[in-house]
Amino acid sequence: MSIATIILAAGKGARMQSDTPKVLHPLGGVPMLHHAMATATTLDAARLIVVTGHGGDAVAKEALAFSPGVTIVQQGSQNGTGDAVAQTKEALADFNGDVIVLYGDTPFVRRETLQKMLQARKNGGDVVVLGFEAENPGKYGRLIVNAQGTLDAIVEAGEATQTQLDITLCNSGVVCADARVLFDLVAKLTNDNGSGEYYLTDIVGLARSGGLNPGVVTCDEAETFGINSREHLADAEAVFQAETRLKMLAGGVTLTAPETVFFARDTTIGRDVTIAPNVVFGPGVTVDSGAEIRAFCHVEGCHIAKNATIGPFARLRPGADIGERARVGNFVEIKESVIGQDAKVNHLSYVGDAEVGPRANIGAGVITCNYDGIAKFKTSIGADAFIGSNTALVAPVVVGDSAMTGSGSVISKDVPEGALGITRDKQHNIAGFSHKHFTARGDDK
Ligand code: UD1
Ligand code: CA
Repeated sequence: MSIATIILAAGKGARMQSDTPKVLHPLGGVPMLHHAMATATTLDAARLIVVTGHGGDAVAKEALAFSPGVTIVQQGSQNGTGDAVAQTKEALADFNGDVIVLYGDTPFVRRETLQKMLQARKNGGDVVVLGFEAENPGKYGRLIVNAQGTLDAIVEAGEATQTQLDITLCNSGVVCADARVLFDLVAKLTNDNGSGEYYLTDIVGLARSGGLNPGVVTCDEAETFGINSREHLADAEAVFQAETRLKMLAGGVTLTAPETVFFARDTTIGRDVTIAPNVVFGPGVTVDSGAEIRAFCHVEGCHIAKNATIGPFARLRPGADIGERARVGNFVEIKESVIGQDAKVNHLSYVGDAEVGPRANIGAGVITCNYDGIAKFKTSIGADAFIGSNTALVAPVVVGDSAMTGSGSVISKDVPEGALGITRDKQHNIAGFSHKHFTARGDDK
């Protein structure tokens, strides 16, 4: 049975008080929208559609960044969830199978829950709704279950009677139905209600009166958590981090102080990696087994190979690729550079747009001068090279295998294999200078 998922992401999200579309606010270092897209992807959905509206171009761009195969459907004006689904009819005209509707602002719905819904479809439910027992039902749609225990309708809070408002079984918004059934029902929706919107939820009542069999699957309220405000976003981030820390621990990662380590949605960490307190992972990080990340590091868009040691206080920026057993020490920044295996960049360096060979040693305070204000240039450092402390490497420049640079040198020409590149003046000492100097100033020294 093939599956299509529709993610509704056209809403404005007014309560975010933001110029950024709601679904693009980051959660776990990536746009909130990516979480729902990732869940859809785990279902092996044949088709993935994102309905955009407010900030449509920006939302489409991020949706395509996550998955180039996604279909974007623009909803001209936000006339309700039913209207949003109706817009996808053409995109799915050639699709046969089950459609699952998700929301772009509801990141925690689990794959297992969606599989339960697909199973409920197989068991004869024509329109399967995901419900939950709400602690505080507030504005959620209420699920109207009949005496036989099956679903009759969903009533939006704004249209509900007092008795209906007392119902605590609520609508998450997630729906699953056969594509043809879904579009037939959606075509019958009217906007004859308090808000003048086409409510997707009305398809349940229409299904029941049309002789179909609507069903409900329930999940924990935490899964259906939708983000409508910055406060919700902060709460969701806390939930995401707490869950991810547990996943990391379960996967064999040591976290000395888990509550101080922050992950991104796509952080991948191997077994027997140790992460000290106060480490932040931006998006796109892979850490191989046995590596150690010491306290106060910020790493993003990088790869850390087996048994490498990073930090304390190191910053790895996009394109940093740290080799096996390599060491990147305190107050070192690395960007778009390959650090060879067993190489050391131990203290106070900036390495950008560089290639550092195996076993090379980069002394304290070495800087790759990779940018002349107009363009970026490459630095290449050979295997076993020794770069003296406080060397400025003015790119483009090549330091050969086993070559050295004198500390404090400004290296703007290539250093051949095995040579020493040095640009310092010879030192000369002026005898007695200090004594005269301080005597003239009146010091006793
Ligand atoms: C909806 C449900 C309600 C449910 C609640 C769960 C309806 C009518 N109501 O209400 O039963 O309890 O979600 O959170 O479906 N969207 C569009 N285009 C539109 C309108 C909305 O894409 O024209 C998107 C929004 O961006 C959002 C989602 O659909 O991602 C839900 O819309 P929202 O307006 O938040 O629905 P609720 O009023 O919360
Ligand atoms: Ca909502």
